[in-house]
Amino acid sequence: MSPAPPVVAEHLKKRFGSVSAVEDLSLTVEEGKVYGFLGPNGAGKTTTIRMLLGLIAPDGGSVRIFGHDIRRDFKLAIRCVGAMVEGPAFYPFLTAHKNLQLFGRLSGGVPAARVDEILDRVGLLRRAGQKVGGFSQGMRQRLGIALAMLEKPRLLVLDEPTNGLDPQGTREIRELLRQIRDEGETTVLVSSHLLGEMERICDRVAVISQGRMLREGSLDELLGADDGVVELVVEPDRTSAAAEVLTRRFQIEPRRIRRGHLELIVDGRAGASEVNRVLVEEGLAVHGLHSRRRSLEQVFVELTGEVSDIQ
Ligand SMILES: Nc1ncnc2c1ncn2[C@@H]1O[C@H](COP(=O)(O)OP(=O)(O)O)[C@@H](O)[C@H]1O
Ligand SMILES: [Mg+2]
Repeated sequence: MSPAPPVVAEHLKKRFGSVSAVEDLSLTVEEGKVYGFLGPNGAGKTTTIRMLLGLIAPDGGSVRIFGHDIRRDFKLAIRCVGAMVEGPAFYPFLTAHKNLQLFGRLSGGVPAARVDEILDRVGLLRRAGQKVGGFSQGMRQRLGIALAMLEKPRLLVLDEPTNGLDPQGTREIRELLRQIRDEGETTVLVSSHLLGEMERICDRVAVISQGRMLREGSLDELLGADDGVVELVVEPDRTSAAAEVLTRRFQIEPRRIRRGHLELIVDGRAGASEVNRVLVEEGLAVHGLHSRRRSLEQVFVELTGEVSDIQ
């Protein structure tokens, strides 16, 4: 029997009064991946994560964490989980090191060396002795991730870990998540409204809107190069010459043309390398020829028709 996946959620539902926050949401997070849980503000990400962690009860549906039902077998289910939900709360008058030690003690004690190790891991070792009250938002977020990772969880759940961070802080979190993935010991479920950011680190993503799953799949499945759509870049003043060659030699009409850029569909008849060869043969310099991959944001807009607040 293969081991139970880190997260299996089925038909989750949650209402707050008249607001339906989550509607019939199902998802599976497989071992050893970074799973992006994406959607605009108010989509229901935090509510879902709270249900996954047993922080609130769903109105319907079920959650199993490593095979254990989060409601019936809470202790077993949560044992190997580290989480940071909606910005961590720390004691501002204590140092970073003391805060982690304190929280470690609540769950049975963590050696000081482990605290240092994890502070180093998130780039806060130099700040270990400083009071958290003086920390920037980015430092607090990193300390929150350190706390979530303190006991070497097999599943790490991070709700909007890059919220409120500047580009440098965001880069640092991205690097940290990459490292965690590459080590391969921890599965990461990370929520965000920043699609562009998540595109860079996730293996699989779920895109939700208004409490419903729009798409779930690997990034390749979701973004997969538009079938055969290729962008060709030539000298701006040779644009129409290039279009003429494509039509004459391949019977290809570019679907879109602007100065120096031609978008075309190539197929078995005329692979990209063949197009390149013929253009060069006809005396046209080819500056670029690449298949077009959509962005997650484009996928979102295509799915919802909404222009999102997500980037
Ligand atoms: N405790 C609550 N009481 C009332 N409404 C809530 C509560 N928590 C969330 N909501 C509502 O549920 C919807 C989803 O919110 P949330 O899960 O926080 O979205 P996200 O994390 O994707 O931004 C929103 O409309 C929000 O206003
Ligand atoms: Mg949220």
